[in-house]
Amino acid sequence: MTKGFFITFEGADGSGKTTQLNKIKDLLEEEGFDVVVTREPGALLIGEKIREILLHHEEHIADRCEMFLFLADRAQHVEEFIKPALEEGKIVLCDRYTDSTIAYQGYGRNQNIKLLTDLNNIAINGMVPDLTLLFDVSTETAMQRVGEEKDRMESIGADFHKRVRNGYLELQRKEPERIKLINANNSIENVYNNTKNIILDLITHKEEKGV
Ligand SMILES: Nc1ncnc2c1ncn2[C@@H]1O[C@H](COP(=O)(O)OP(=O)(O)OP(=O)(O)O)[C@@H](O)[C@H]1O
Ligand SMILES: [Mg+2]
Repeated sequence: MTKGFFITFEGADGSGKTTQLNKIKDLLEEEGFDVVVTREPGALLIGEKIREILLHHEEHIADRCEMFLFLADRAQHVEEFIKPALEEGKIVLCDRYTDSTIAYQGYGRNQNIKLLTDLNNIAINGMVPDLTLLFDVSTETAMQRVGEEKDRMESIGADFHKRVRNGYLELQRKEPERIKLINANNSIENVYNNTKNIILDLITHKEEKGV
């Protein structure tokens, strides 16, 4: 049984996930909640090593190898960090999670989506987010925000990133209850106001129901 609240932040590179996550962390702490922030890949020590390979390895990485590395990182992260934090009643804010795998490795790399979904389920062992925020931004704007210093994933071409964006939108249409769509083309403050309203609504709702 988990008592906490699990929120994941999803969207393209440069969509503003980390910017919004930090602002939401400050807000929830001011409201008196016990909040922890984490990210994928690379939250823990094993994850740091996996993240280094995923984002900076110079040689070619086979698509299926990339897929298993992300999933291995996730399995460890859930077991050692996310699950214990939720059991302690914390609000967990996680920068990227299962939907990134479906959007990037599934829609982006054309790996089998049904298979990826099954593997995700093995990796998370029941730890489905209570809420997922999808920051949707045009690929052009996202690339401008990322700038010149691109990591291995960000350096893949625009077609890949367009498939990723459409994949995310498809996921949102399939699971509208869990995944809330946020227009991230607007200013940081405007995106923040929308994000804040969605989160406070859900947390208050959960508290009222006493779940
Ligand atoms: N709504 C916005 N309008 C303009 N600039 C923004 C907006 N949101 C974020 N930025 C800027 O765009 C850049 C990327 O933002 P951020 O790092 O939050 O994106 P991200 O989704 O976490 O990207 P990544 O997936 O690469 O970690 C930062 O320089 C940030 O200040
Ligand atoms: Mg980020």
